[in-house]
Amino acid sequence: MKDKITAHWNKRSPSYRKMYRDHLDEEILLMKNLFSEKLPAGKKLSVLDIGTGPGIQAFVFAELGHNVTALDISKEMLAGAKEGARNRNLLIRFVEGDGENLPFEACTFDIIVNMHLLWTLTDHDKFFSECKRVLVPGGRILAIDGQWFQQEYVSDGNNNPEERTHEELIEYLPLYKSNSPEMIAGLMENNGFSDVSWKALPEYAEYMKRCDPEGHDYLSVPYLATGVKY
Ligand SMILES: C[S@@+](CC[C@H](N)C(=O)[O-])C[C@H]1O[C@@H](n2cnc3c(N)ncnc32)[C@H](O)[C@@H]1O
Repeated sequence: MKDKITAHWNKRSPSYRKMYRDHLDEEILLMKNLFSEKLPAGKKLSVLDIGTGPGIQAFVFAELGHNVTALDISKEMLAGAKEGARNRNLLIRFVEGDGENLPFEACTFDIIVNMHLLWTLTDHDKFFSECKRVLVPGGRILAIDGQWFQQEYVSDGNNNPEERTHEELIEYLPLYKSNSPEMIAGLMENNGFSDVSWKALPEYAEYMKRCDPEGHDYLSVPYLATGVKY
């Protein structure tokens, strides 16, 4: 099943988030502003971006001056992210691996970030317990996602049939149609995270809609869910 998931994302890599590529600097700035209140000031942090895809969150934290490791299950996604890092002159460690079975020692990272990853996972208890294991005590998880597929997926008039191919994965993805922020907060709490909270990101929704007005049904507003390991 993981082979199928990996093959899927390898195939998606060339077209993934194509509509946003001309607006990357804007997205990075938006994310920097969003995270500033959640990060301890004046400290160089060890950050892990899981499911980095094209590398956006890795770029955010590297540009903020932190030590960043970016992990993805897809070689092709990592190749694109590496190229992006080179173009932006950023030093990032890229690792091929599974977010549900992290190839890192316990207590390695101050921050774990992930964006649009949760809906793609097969075992959320494993994922959150792995995140807790590799975070240092006091470390924080920052998870951005949305309820993208609660309504039927509205694509781009079939100009890009690749966009629909994740239908082949749905049977493996328990949160595909139900990744509400309340559910994610509950999963964090059940897996031992404290100070769990979430907030809606209307400004990010506006950005996404502006970049890709026909790509998704944006009745759902993305959210940031966060928790701390003590
Ligand atoms: C929807 S994309 C999100 C990419 C990026 N974070 C973003 O915000 O655009 C999901 C990413 O997670 C990766 N992925 C899926 N399952 C994974 C897993 N179990 N472990 C690590 N990466 C995974 C995929 O290869 C893909 O790059």
